[in-house]
This record gives sequence, C-alpha cells and structure tokens, in this order.
Amino acid sequence: MGIEIIGIGSYLPEKILTNAELEKMVATSDEWITTRTGIKERRIAKDMEATSDLAIQSAKRALKKANITPEEIDAIIVATITPDMFFPSTACFIQKEIGAKNAAAFDISAACSGFIYGLAIAKSFINSDTYKTVMVIGAEKLSSITDWTDRNICVLLGDGAGSVILRKTNSTSDILSTYLGADGNYGDLLLIPGGGSRNPATHKTVDARLHYMKMEGNKIFKIAVRAMADSAKKAIELAGITCNDVKLIIPHQANIRIIEAVAKQLDVPMDKVFLNIQKYGNTSAATTPIALEEAIYEGKVKKGDIVVLVAFGGGLTWGATAIKL
Ligand code: ACO
Repeated sequence: MGIEIIGIGSYLPEKILTNAELEKMVATSDEWITTRTGIKERRIAKDMEATSDLAIQSAKRALKKANITPEEIDAIIVATITPDMFFPSTACFIQKEIGAKNAAAFDISAACSGFIYGLAIAKSFINSDTYKTVMVIGAEKLSSITDWTDRNICVLLGDGAGSVILRKTNSTSDILSTYLGADGNYGDLLLIPGGGSRNPATHKTVDARLHYMKMEGNKIFKIAVRAMADSAKKAIELAGITCNDVKLIIPHQANIRIIEAVAKQLDVPMDKVFLNIQKYGNTSAATTPIALEEAIYEGKVKKGDIVVLVAFGGGLTWGATAIKL
C-alpha cells in the first residue's frame, strides 16, 4: 500500500501578459527578462477572479481525473500567499464550491514551498489513518500583490493553480520522502510589510505601497540555489534512492538561472529537469503542481516513474519530495 496521486488538475487564466507588453509598463526589455529569468510571458487572472476561483477550476479537473465524488474528500489543504481574504480560509471557499461537504479545510503559509509543505502534511494525515483522501492545492493570484510600477518584481510573477488528490491504494505508487526547512533570519528578503497585525492597513501604509510584495532578488538567488540543491539531495537520500533513479526533477520555477545552477549542483543534465517558466513565470505555490500536471500530460513521466519536486520561497522556506507516480 502506498500513497497515490489519483487525480491531478491545473488551471491557468486565459489572459497572457508578454514581455513586450511589460516593456510599455516599466523600464525593462524582453532581452533583459529573457536572459536574466527565462520568462517570456505569464498568465494574469481577471480583476473579479480570486485565488479560490483559479483553485476551484484545478480542483474540479483533479476530481474528474480521479473519478471520485467531492464527498469522498476528507481534507483540503491550500497553499497560498494570496488568500481571497484573511479569513475565512481559501480552502473553505473551495470546499463549498466543489461540494466537498465532508472535508476539513484549511490554508497553509509557506510561500513558494507551500505545495511541498502541503504534501508532507497530507502524507502524515494519510499514513496516520486520520484521513483517507486528501486534496492538496497550490493556488495564487500574485498579480493582486504585485507592484506594477516595480520592475524588480513585476516581470517575475504570474497567476495559476494546481491540485492533486492523494489516497492510499494497492499500487506501487508512494510519496517516498518529504524534506522541509526554513530560516526566519531571511524573512525580510521577501515579504509584504503592510496589511497584517504588524502594520495594519491605513491610508499611510497604502500610500507607501506596503501592501505589495517586496524582494531583495539577488540576495535570495544564492540562498535559493543552495537550499534547493540541498533539499533535493536530502529528499533523494531519505527515499533511499540515487539521482539515477529519478526520471524528472520538477523545480520551483522562479528563475531559469537558479534552476540551471541547481541542476549543476545535483549533477543532472537539463533534459532531466522540467521547465515551463517561459510560459507562466513564477506562480509561487502553484508552480510545482502545474509543472507536475504538465509533465504527466506531455508524457515526460508516467506511472512508476520517480519525480522529485523541489522549491524555496518566502520565509525563507524550502523543501523537496520524492514521489513514485
Ligand atoms: N528590467 C531591466 N533591468 C532590471 C530589471 C528589469 N525588470 N530588474 C532589475 N533590473 C536592473 C537592476 O536595477 C540592476 O541595475 P543596476 O546594475 O543599474 O543597479 C540590474 O538590472 C541588475 O540587477 P540584479 O538584481 O543584480 O539582477 P539579477 O541578475 O540578480 O536578477 C532577479 C534579478 C531576476 C530578481 C534575480 O536576482 C532573481 O531571480 N532572484 C531570485 C528571485 C526569487 O526567486 N524570489 C523568490 C520568489 S518570489 C515568491 O516567493 C512569490
């Protein structure tokens, strides 16, 4: 018996924002964005769409693939830094809309590592027989916390959602290992300073644009490479396998240069590393489930293959998981 991904679905908003369009918004160029980040375009949700709206689409697709009823879901875990509201949780909005009336529902906050944190929680729930069927969602409307006048950050981000449904089955599939880490000393490198209990929203905080994401990108870069490479190595070691057993590394899609540096440290060729950053940019907690879904859909991995998902994000947080599909 092992934990199997019995359904997976993703959702990307239709609207595409290209580098050429960004050139008209801030002092940047397609050439700078492409060479420094690998991003060509990203998806942007409609004004009226919230994170839960994106997540609901991906959850419905996962339910369809799993061929189960929503009532069979025992828990919904949503990783997001762009909840619809402070509360209720985004998970509760999703629970209502998909009709998962028997499910516990809650959000977790681990930024771009959130989906991997969510998988680790789901694994514990299932292995402790607390729950049988758990849905884990990574969903973000990063465009809602993006300062569209700040070229340091607005070129990097996009919106999207990905959902998986996990259940213990009589197959060879399993979440072989999970490894999670964090270092709050680096918290000020990536944050939204305003709007929380530290600096509640006032005209002053809004005028100072404190409700938007702030980032010290080049300081994060080096830490990200080390944290992602170490996390992937730990997850591989904990799974009792070697890099040669891994069919595909699915890294958080923040910057192609970070991904290439991680591949180099792991000593794996880039054709063993999944990339879709050019199409979607960084969708935070949604990147790894969206990428996993695409890798399966494109036939890059199939049942029985081992994949390693690895991410880092605000907190700073990081983590990796080895999954036998
Ligand atoms: N267009 C043109 N020039 C730009 C842009 C832009 N969009 N952004 C920055 N620049 C300029 C800078 O002002 C700087 O100019 P200067 O030399 O005159 O001062 C120059 O480009 C170099 O800037 P750096 O910050 O040193 O550029 P770097 O090569 O480090 O790339 C980047 C910046 C892309 C942000 C990179 O550091 C990075 O990807 N870091 C990691 C970011 C990340 O992954 N964050 C976490 C995820 S976000 C989340 O959790 C939701």
